[in-house]
Amino acid sequence: MLGSMEQATATALDVEALRARFPSLASGIAHFDGPGGTQTPAEVGEAIARTLTGPLSNRGSSVASERNADAAVAAFRAAYADLLRADPRGIVYGRSATQLTYDVSRALAKQWAAGDELVVTQLDHDANVRPWLQVAERVGMTVRWLRLDPATGQLRLDELDEVVTERTRLVAVTGASNLIGSKPDLPRIAARAHEVGALVHVDGVHLAAHDAIDVAALGADLFVCSPYKFFGPHCAVLAASPELLESLHPDKLLPSTDAVPERFELGTLPYELMAGATAAVDVIASIAGAPVEDAQRDRRERLVAANALVEHHERRLRERIEVHLRALEGRLTLHSVAEERTSTLFVTFRDRDPFAVARALAARDVLAPAGTFYAHEPFLALGTGAEAGLRMGLAPYNDDTDVDRLLEGLDAALA
Ligand SMILES: Cc1ncc(COP(=O)(O)O)c(C=O)c1O
Repeated sequence: MLGSMEQATATALDVEALRARFPSLASGIAHFDGPGGTQTPAEVGEAIARTLTGPLSNRGSSVASERNADAAVAAFRAAYADLLRADPRGIVYGRSATQLTYDVSRALAKQWAAGDELVVTQLDHDANVRPWLQVAERVGMTVRWLRLDPATGQLRLDELDEVVTERTRLVAVTGASNLIGSKPDLPRIAARAHEVGALVHVDGVHLAAHDAIDVAALGADLFVCSPYKFFGPHCAVLAASPELLESLHPDKLLPSTDAVPERFELGTLPYELMAGATAAVDVIASIAGAPVEDAQRDRRERLVAANALVEHHERRLRERIEVHLRALEGRLTLHSVAEERTSTLFVTFRDRDPFAVARALAARDVLAPAGTFYAHEPFLALGTGAEAGLRMGLAPYNDDTDVDRLLEGLDAALA
């Protein structure tokens, strides 16, 4: 007999039903800017408004307003523990992944000394490169690079053993590239890092929008992601083991608690944004079939099931776009070529200004932005000779009509 979970699980993504939950899609814009940030379902906006306008005080247990603040924090930690398969006691709220990475890099640097080594990669968004380079410079550490091979779209893991040495203290690596979508082999990188006693800090901002995450299985000691990339409000999350967090001592105010994870969350928490971020997880969990109010039951299993539906849907649309792009080869170069990757496509043009192409698409209400998207090192490593490219990223609410409009717009812009 099937359990309640199986009965509630759909076998294909109902994209029409999903789209109906996003009031902003009534604008008629076809959004291919998911890697920059997704649209927001009504449930998320409602959770923010409900929390903020309901009775709300500082955290405590005396009256409903204090309890509401406390409950919002507890629900947030529980939701992100389910999303990332992490310990709720190690879930840290942050304003952005950039801020969390800076904060954790400074706290870790207190334990590092001149001559220690850090590893960064040419596949990473600058948020997981520059903070490490800057602390390395301050401490006098050596920085080593895992290089990107543009031909495969992947990191040169044949150099992994050389780059990660006995002196490496931390490897900072992306879960997936926000430029070309490539997903490096994190367990392999983490195994090498752990062999020499180094920590692994994973930028999961792009990956968490496309994969079911299991931080331990990936080998991540520290994992950051940003809910605004998957239906939530503009904020971020750090997941780590409470024991690791206990060993770090960020600068903090004297009267504020030294408890973990609060030690890392400076000032009063934005309970309303935390409630919105929790609602985003519940919306994702409900994609596999359950009504959103039931989504917290078996939430981890529902999240995994939802992710499988979304991945299948995005891959089908991605393949439609890729077939079209391949037919345009000669006019453009597709740089998203890795075997393991998300549905994020990046192209440069032979004889077109990518900003002009993006403007031509925008004139049709198709949003596929041009730029390099803070992927400073990957863009340089690709060696395109161009100034920028065009990024087409798929989100769960994209449908075939969106793709039709994108492809027609591209043909017109290149005609
Ligand atoms: C892969 C990746 N890492 C980090 C960031 C920075 O995230 P945040 O805006 O939360 O600092 C982004 C934002 O686009 C990203 O795509």
